[in-house]
Amino acid sequence: MPLSNLAVRDLETLVHPYTNLATLRETGPLVIERGQGVFVYDSEGKAYIEGMAGLWCTALGYGNEELVEAATAQMRKLSFSHLFTGKSHDPAIELAERLKEIAPVPASKVFFCSSGSEANDTQVKLVWYMNNALGRPKKKKIVSRLRAYHGVTIAAASLTGLPNNHRDFDLPIAGILHAGCPHHYRFAHDGESEADFAKRLAAELEALILKEGPDTVAAFIAEPVMGAGGVIVPPMSYFPEVMTVCRKYDLYMISDEVICGFGRLGTMFGCTALGFAPDSITVAKALTSAYVPLSALTVPETMYQAMLDESRKIGTFGHGFTYSGHPVAAAVALKALDIYARERIAEQAANKAPQFQMRLSALGEHPLVGEARGLGLVGGVELVADKKTKRAFDPKAGVGARAVRLAEEEGLIVRFIAGDIVSICPPLIIAPAEIDELFDRLGRALDRTLDWVKRERLMSS
Ligand SMILES: Cc1ncc(COP(=O)(O)O)c(C=O)c1O
Repeated sequence: MPLSNLAVRDLETLVHPYTNLATLRETGPLVIERGQGVFVYDSEGKAYIEGMAGLWCTALGYGNEELVEAATAQMRKLSFSHLFTGKSHDPAIELAERLKEIAPVPASKVFFCSSGSEANDTQVKLVWYMNNALGRPKKKKIVSRLRAYHGVTIAAASLTGLPNNHRDFDLPIAGILHAGCPHHYRFAHDGESEADFAKRLAAELEALILKEGPDTVAAFIAEPVMGAGGVIVPPMSYFPEVMTVCRKYDLYMISDEVICGFGRLGTMFGCTALGFAPDSITVAKALTSAYVPLSALTVPETMYQAMLDESRKIGTFGHGFTYSGHPVAAAVALKALDIYARERIAEQAANKAPQFQMRLSALGEHPLVGEARGLGLVGGVELVADKKTKRAFDPKAGVGARAVRLAEEEGLIVRFIAGDIVSICPPLIIAPAEIDELFDRLGRALDRTLDWVKRERLMSS
């Protein structure tokens, strides 16, 4: 098909994030024009179920007039003010209060940024700053995990445990360690139970800390369910086991709730669903349902006291973004929190999860699918060349990309991540009939992908 005028202008002007820039020259972009509910519409007027809630973020769907109104009213009243040098404003104060109230951690204060990456970079800097203030300047290394996703700024990309985020970017930086990935399907030994697998990962984490020296390891950061690394749900005993190790060696524990926060797993926060109590959380995305960018992290009292001591010693706390606590973003987040509470969005997600997970796990029977996994309203479908041996396709064959393209033809937006894993993460407001429609469309796309895979002889016979 010839490219539209917009598509041609796109190719002449944009560098697309997270895109195979070479392939894009041939396929052209999919230009999205508007959205309503769980649907988006392209520039030709074709409707798609937004099966990825944008980028795991538009939890309340599109066209929510209450959020639009909250932004507009705040823009009229005070379009910008900042929090530098002791200035403040009502929306930021109120939002910090609300986040402290609902956070699953004892939060003393809240720090605002605009993106998940900025917030995770801030987490790293605050851990370093705290440990300097506490007189333990050697305790600085941060443990993340292979396949983790924590963003793309220099510290956050270093925390991320995916080769594509490091290769040729000269990352990771020194002082970032990657522990094992808790994906039983891929990384358990033959015959190893989920419980034994979790125990082994915790033992390996302990061995890593001991090898590095516990007085040099400061923190552990984890997503409750890994998102961009492949929608990886750890064994239920994994976090309790890992937390025991973190506590033993006095590691500051950060739960990256950028995807899992605000109801995605059927609980308001992901750490609750996975049974652990961190020291701090990072939130973003669904905090505003992505109507405007906003992220935040909580600061516990011990950390805040250490920061206060630093200020007494050296003066200004020298960190902050122009848009830290942007009043329009804060006003939208306050309205989103109202909606989460009023509509009991997390509880509704939990009620819809059995249907979602049943339809998801039925895809596990498909000849292309090695594992279909998920929790709450998020899922991943791992496509393999051989179900028995779990052999992956040659990445160059582009099987995941093909499945996503065929899903688009069927009127469904999903994403392929970390190889040939198709991820599904619809807006939390999705209706039961729309969940069925989503999986019907995905099923048809997988059938068509299978036909293509067979034609291309990419599968073990
Ligand atoms: C768990 C997690 N942390 C951090 C980030 C980075 O957020 P951003 O893209 O807003 O920088 C993401 C983005 O997908 C994420 O999924």
